[in-house]
Amino acid sequence: MYTRARASTTEADTARLREIASTPSEVQTTAQGGSTSQPIHEGLAGVVIGSSAICDVNGERGTLTYRGYDIGELACHATFEETVHLLWHGDLPNQTQLDLLSARLADEREISEAVEQVLAALPEHIQPMDALRTASSALSCPSNGDSGSLSSEQQAICLVAKLPTIAAAHYRRRRSLPRVHPRRDLSHAANFLYMIHGEEPTERQAKTMDLAMLLMAEHGFNASTFAARVTAATLADIVSAVTSAISTLKGPLHGGANEQAMRMMLEIGDVAHVASYIDDALARKQRIMGFGHRVYRTSADPRAAYLRGSLFDLCAESGDFHLYELATTIAEAVETKKGLYPNVDFYAAPVLYLLGIPLELFVSVFAISRVPGWTAHIMEQHTNNKLIRPLSAYVGPEDRVYRPIGQRGN
Ligand SMILES: CC(C)(COP(=O)(O)OP(=O)(O)OC[C@H]1O[C@@H](n2cnc3c(N)ncnc32)[C@H](O)[C@@H]1OP(=O)(O)O)[C@@H](O)C(=O)NCCC(=O)NCCS
Repeated sequence: MYTRARASTTEADTARLREIASTPSEVQTTAQGGSTSQPIHEGLAGVVIGSSAICDVNGERGTLTYRGYDIGELACHATFEETVHLLWHGDLPNQTQLDLLSARLADEREISEAVEQVLAALPEHIQPMDALRTASSALSCPSNGDSGSLSSEQQAICLVAKLPTIAAAHYRRRRSLPRVHPRRDLSHAANFLYMIHGEEPTERQAKTMDLAMLLMAEHGFNASTFAARVTAATLADIVSAVTSAISTLKGPLHGGANEQAMRMMLEIGDVAHVASYIDDALARKQRIMGFGHRVYRTSADPRAAYLRGSLFDLCAESGDFHLYELATTIAEAVETKKGLYPNVDFYAAPVLYLLGIPLELFVSVFAISRVPGWTAHIMEQHTNNKLIRPLSAYVGPEDRVYRPIGQRGN
């Protein structure tokens, strides 16, 4: 269940911060060099902190483009591998470029003995995202550990190729299932499903996984990408920046929402229970996971429609529309009762569920899908770098005098 993260300030400080934030043009903040009037933008909402040529998220129009291509164009025609090339190089690949990239990704899928040992050393029940984060920071590319000898793109290829193998290897270890090694002859998405299930996916399953990964590959300056760029802006390496991003994606307000959305659907269980469940949740001021968005406020998240289509197709294949009806009924109820639209996580959840991905892996799937976007941003940050270092409004006590420990009371 969602709980707001604890702030490090006291309640009085928090109240004062809220008061300050409600009058943005009049605030006193303490900036370096003295006190000055500065607006405060909590959560950086509405603040443009840099420029980027990778992705345009237009909240008003409800559109999303990768490098100028509408997400619908890519969803209908492109593959995940083509999208990776597009995000990194700014253009869709020709056949030779695509073959080369696909081969390089396939070549890098296997993980080293050192990373295997990191996974083996983890506590038995560690959560998949914790395992992914820990093992990702152990990824040294190449295996001699000298990542400095590799180009940024070579390191990015290692990360895109190896993180799915890490996620699958840890999942099977956690379930005491025999390890399934990656195959070179499968696409990125098909290979991931193969490593999870130990059997080759059907064409429909592979295509659906590919689409889900493509839709989750990039989304502008979201929290995890921003975290990656902050880390990259210190001139830290790509692996470190991606590890920051994985940590940030883990939270339930970001990548964690897909798992929670699926748990909610399973808890509701039947369309007949939707209205009362949503009424009750809203009355208790509970957040409905998979709804709402920081940028798409007046229109739906454009990615949701394509995932809803995939959900329909998967249900049509099995002839069982229960999950499609349940999900669309929940979406209608939340829109009617709260005016919120489903975001990418809401329809990604039942799609992943029907692909047989265990719930505990949902956030990891989001993470491995987002690596192309993170790495594109890290490379862009490094080409025109400026240290990211905002200011804060100091609200703590002032002019205090040091007292020896014996004079401080209990
Ligand atoms: C994504 C999200 C964090 C954006 O948050 P934000 O832009 O900071 O918006 P806020 O948290 O300020 O919410 C604004 C209002 O909408 C409400 N709201 C937003 N999302 C909501 C949700 N999913 N369920 C219920 N109420 C929601 C808030 O309670 C708040 O209401 P209030 O003004 O009466 O207090 C937020 O919509 C959310 O928590 N969604 C659920 C988690 C999720 O699906 N995350 C994946 C994002 S892709």
